[in-house]
Amino acid sequence: MNASLNICCIGAGYVGGPTMAMIAAQCPDIRVTVVDMDAARIDQWNSDQLPIYEPGLHELVMAARGRNLFFSTDIDSGIRQAGIIFVSVNTPTKSYGIGAGSASDLTNVELCARRIAAVANGNKIVVEKSTLPVRTAESLKRVLHANANGYKFDILSNPEFLAEGTAVADLQSPDRVLIGGDETRSGQLAIQELVNVYARWVPRERILTTNLWSSELSKLVSNALLAQRISSVNALSALCEATGADVDEVTFAAGKDSRIGSKFLKASVGFGGSCFQKDILNLVYLCRHYGLNEVANYWEQVVTINTWQKTRFVSRMIDTMFNTIAGKRIAILGFAFKKNTNDTRASAAIDVCRALLNERAQLAVYDPQVTSRAILSQLAIATGLPVSDLEKRVHCESDPYRAADGADALAVLTEWDEFKSLDFEFIYRSMKKPAFAFDGRNILPHALMRAIGYDVQAIGKSFPTGAPTSAQYSEAISA
Ligand code: UDX
Ligand code: UDX
Repeated sequence: MNASLNICCIGAGYVGGPTMAMIAAQCPDIRVTVVDMDAARIDQWNSDQLPIYEPGLHELVMAARGRNLFFSTDIDSGIRQAGIIFVSVNTPTKSYGIGAGSASDLTNVELCARRIAAVANGNKIVVEKSTLPVRTAESLKRVLHANANGYKFDILSNPEFLAEGTAVADLQSPDRVLIGGDETRSGQLAIQELVNVYARWVPRERILTTNLWSSELSKLVSNALLAQRISSVNALSALCEATGADVDEVTFAAGKDSRIGSKFLKASVGFGGSCFQKDILNLVYLCRHYGLNEVANYWEQVVTINTWQKTRFVSRMIDTMFNTIAGKRIAILGFAFKKNTNDTRASAAIDVCRALLNERAQLAVYDPQVTSRAILSQLAIATGLPVSDLEKRVHCESDPYRAADGADALAVLTEWDEFKSLDFEFIYRSMKKPAFAFDGRNILPHALMRAIGYDVQAIGKSFPTGAPTSAQYSEAISA
């Protein structure tokens, strides 16, 4: 096997794992090794119980694993054997020092560069897969070249645009693949080498090549624009509630304009996930660094509105439930940051649950994919309470009916499809009355539930109060 056709990826996470599985599946002649310092994670990738839930991923991994896809903790051998090394380690928002709360922590990325330089036994192409601040490649180059031992390193930026929950489909058929590199001859050859990998299954016109800085910035900009759409809609959802407009009708009408488009206009309790907030804060930090304070303030509002939307949701719950939720049982339906993933990073559910716990509510949480361990550990971090204390107030349930049993309210925080068609008559009978339902994703059958007797509150909607007439009831039941 040609050495340049060996690929290594450092970081077996939500990005590295699925991306490498797709490359291995599409390119059986390329040996792909995913390495990670977390031995437990690597063990999971080598087992039947993958560390990540993602539709279609299991099949993809099983088809290539052991053939040309390998998971290992031997980072040094992975680096030595590969011609192309992807760096896909996490870059969380800095929690200390200068830039705390907004800049990205690049410690992991720099450590990877130092390791690559230290153990390399030949020329390498180093690919930034992690989302990074613009001009990180400059620092990487300096670290690599200062420790090069006579070998040549080309740096490419190849940001990942997959969304969790649809990762396999996004990797299989991406809207675009972006590869940025140096404008030198060596940089252009490196770009071509990576283009050749993706061109095995991605139409050539969808593979875009740019300079390094455009590629790095494009990832931040894409995420900022997506998040901005959600915050725009969420801001307007408050106006819809105040005026009697229905946010789903408004966004449907607006989205019909082909210049606007219908995607990413769904009002919600707030966006979450490991990328949006982190990337916008990163953009804001970058703008301030370059003295562009107006630009920084503009983008910062996207995060401000998102935080406000979560607070607003909790306030509405408390107002509706007679201004107190102390001791009340609230069934939390969904804890992941979106459907079809077990990922809870920056999930709106964390902030909502923390606020409800501050008000001394009892929580009964159900999520089809998130483990009780993950729920409790996220809430322990968010509240600062030990898990042993939390367990007295947060009950993780194995099905939605148990969660709702005896509850004062339901709160839908993730848009899992199964929540749309629960037996709402049964649930209603098992709940305390009045039975409240707070739909943070606008997926519940509102008319039916109101007809059954629930007091339903949804994002960007204001329903008339009062019991339904028997005619309304019959109409809703038959709909
Ligand atoms: C991460 C970042 O969150 C994202 O910004 C970036 O675009 C890609 O990398 P993700 O794959 O979702 O995305 O992160 P995570 O699931 O946390 O995986 C990162 C992995 O890197 C972890 O398994 C961690 O153990 C590993 N790692 C981290 C190393 O192997 N070495 C390190 O030095 C640091
Ligand atoms: C995002 C980008 O979409 C992806 O291109 C990038 O590579 C990583 O960041 P991800 O965070 O996995 O992907 O999921 P995404 O589908 O973008 O959803 C992010 C959050 O926004 C979720 O909490 C989701 O529920 C929320 N959302 C999304 C809305 O509230 N409304 C919408 O209309 C769309």
